[in-house]
Amino acid sequence: MGFETVTLTPRIGSQVKAPLAQLLDGSLTGVLRALLEERGVLLFRGLGMTDEQQLQFGKTLGTPRHEHGTDITKVSSDKKASPIFAEYTQGTFFFHFDDTYMQYPALASVLLARTVAPQGGQTEFANTYAIYEDLPEEEQRYLDTLQAVHSQETIQRKVFSDPTKFQLSLWGEGAIPATTHPLVWQHQSGRKSLLIGETMSRIVGLEPEESDALVRRILDLAERPEYLYRHDWQIGDVLVWDNTGTMHRVVPFDLDCGRELLRVKLAGEEPIMAVGA
Ligand SMILES: [Fe+2]
Repeated sequence: MGFETVTLTPRIGSQVKAPLAQLLDGSLTGVLRALLEERGVLLFRGLGMTDEQQLQFGKTLGTPRHEHGTDITKVSSDKKASPIFAEYTQGTFFFHFDDTYMQYPALASVLLARTVAPQGGQTEFANTYAIYEDLPEEEQRYLDTLQAVHSQETIQRKVFSDPTKFQLSLWGEGAIPATTHPLVWQHQSGRKSLLIGETMSRIVGLEPEESDALVRRILDLAERPEYLYRHDWQIGDVLVWDNTGTMHRVVPFDLDCGRELLRVKLAGEEPIMAVGA
C-alpha cells in the first residue's frame, strides 16, 4: 500500500502514516475513502501541513463545500473575536453530526489543529455504524421503522435553558427549523448506521414519555467506551472524520483560551435514506 496504519481503538479510529506528497497527489484517494468509512476517524500527525495543503488534501477526498465565504473555516471559540460563533461552541459539547438540518449532510471534515486548549478541547467520536450493528436484530428492525425530529434549539437548550432573544434569533426554531430524519440511515453501500445526536427532540409517533426514554437509551448506548475515540489534539494534527457514520462532541474547555482549528468540510454525496426506501 505504501503507507502504514495504526489502530487507535478496536472499533473506531486509525492513524495513517504516509508521506505528505502521497496524500496531496491523490494516489491514496480510493484506499483512504474506504478506510474512512471503515474506521470513522483518520489521524495524520507530524506532517506540517499548510492551510493550502489542507485544502488540497481535502480535494483529493471529496468536494470542499464553500461556507461563510471560504473553503477553510476557522473554528474558534474566542468570545471576543467571534461572539456569534462562540454562541454555538458550547452546543458542540454534546454529541451531534454536522448539518443535521440537511438532506445531504457533509460527507466528512478535515480538521487541522493550529492552537490547542491547555485543558479540555479534545474531540470525541462515536461510531454509529458499530452501535447499530451490535443491537439485537429485533431492536434493529424496530428502530428501522422510526423517525426522529432534530433541531439546533434542542442541543442549545442543554446549555442555555433560558435563552435570550438574540440567541433564539441565531438558533431558535424560526432561524433553523427542526428536521425529521429516519433513525437509521441505510447508506448506498448497504450498511446501516444510527442517525442520532443530542439534537433529537423526539421520536415521531411515540408518546412523550416513551419517546424521551428511547432517545435517552440510544444516546446512553453511545457512551460505551468501545464505541468511542477521544482525540487529544497536538498542534499540526490533521484529522478526518466520516460525518455520515460517526457523531462527535468537544470536551469542554475555556472559550477564551485561543483554541483554533481549521476546517475543510466535504460536501455530502448521498442523501439520508430510510431503511427500505
Ligand atoms: Fe460539529
